[in-house]
Amino acid sequence: MKSTRGTSSLATGQGELMPLALTGIRPSQPQGQHIKLVGEVGGSVYYCKSALNGKDVCANEWIYSSLARHVGIPVPDFCPIIDYRTGETLFGSKETWGTADEFEVQTLLTTPPNADPVIGDPFAWLGSYLSQVYAFDVFAGNVDRHLRNFLLIPGSPARRLLAYDFASSQLIHRASDHFPIAQTRTQLVGRQLRKLRKFDIESAIEILERIRAVPISQIASFLSSIPDEWITEDQRGQVYEQWSGDVVTERVKALISGLRDGSLL
Ligand SMILES: Nc1ncnc2c1ncn2[C@@H]1O[C@H](COP(=O)(O)OP(=O)(O)O)[C@@H](O)[C@H]1O
Ligand SMILES: [Mg+2]
Repeated sequence: MKSTRGTSSLATGQGELMPLALTGIRPSQPQGQHIKLVGEVGGSVYYCKSALNGKDVCANEWIYSSLARHVGIPVPDFCPIIDYRTGETLFGSKETWGTADEFEVQTLLTTPPNADPVIGDPFAWLGSYLSQVYAFDVFAGNVDRHLRNFLLIPGSPARRLLAYDFASSQLIHRASDHFPIAQTRTQLVGRQLRKLRKFDIESAIEILERIRAVPISQIASFLSSIPDEWITEDQRGQVYEQWSGDVVTERVKALISGLRDGSLL
């Protein structure tokens, strides 16, 4: 399958298909094993990852950010970014306007629910949301979900949490029932969060059913828009095969059963 890069709108929440060119590089170097640079494109800031910084880093980001957005888990805008110095295509995650600082995000995630007797718990949505992100990460084999991989968009009354960093996922699953999350940050942080808010199995199943229902034409479209530098033709074919056969259906089934019996929690 050859890459076909078309134009798309710059609307918020979209994955931009046309590569953008860096116009500047910021001196900051945020923590993270895959971040190569923080770049500017016009007035916007992008956190950029290189495909050379780890196995399938950019392809994972592209596929799973696209899938998350498609099934309703909000993610920052993302696009391919050309590093003018080397010609390399980087995965760029756009710094989101109005994002709260890390401390505020962590406070939101780790403060015990405090139900108001009149209006109830104002953060009741958080339990469902975190259960959905957990199920999504286990599906993706993402072993690195932790408290700093969320962005908070403040708003009153509605706040929004974006999940980012799908770099440590599995592009191709070893077996439909292989979920390599034991003792990973995804599992340990998931458990830590579930001490505060109980796991919402129905919301988790809902996101998994949405994944199962994604049409193969949609996966083909995600795949064909991955820059050639990030994925081999062989890998493209293997991912396509996983989605066109029974693997995804079997995977969702195994995952739901592991969430129900607690073995994947
Ligand atoms: N879209 C973004 N908006 C704001 N900060 C970001 C964004 N993407 C990455 N960062 C910052 O860069 C750090 C590393 O990014 P991350 O995607 O977690 O990379 P890694 O795969 O190396 O862990 C994050 O902890 C955060 O501080
Ligand atoms: Mg990270």
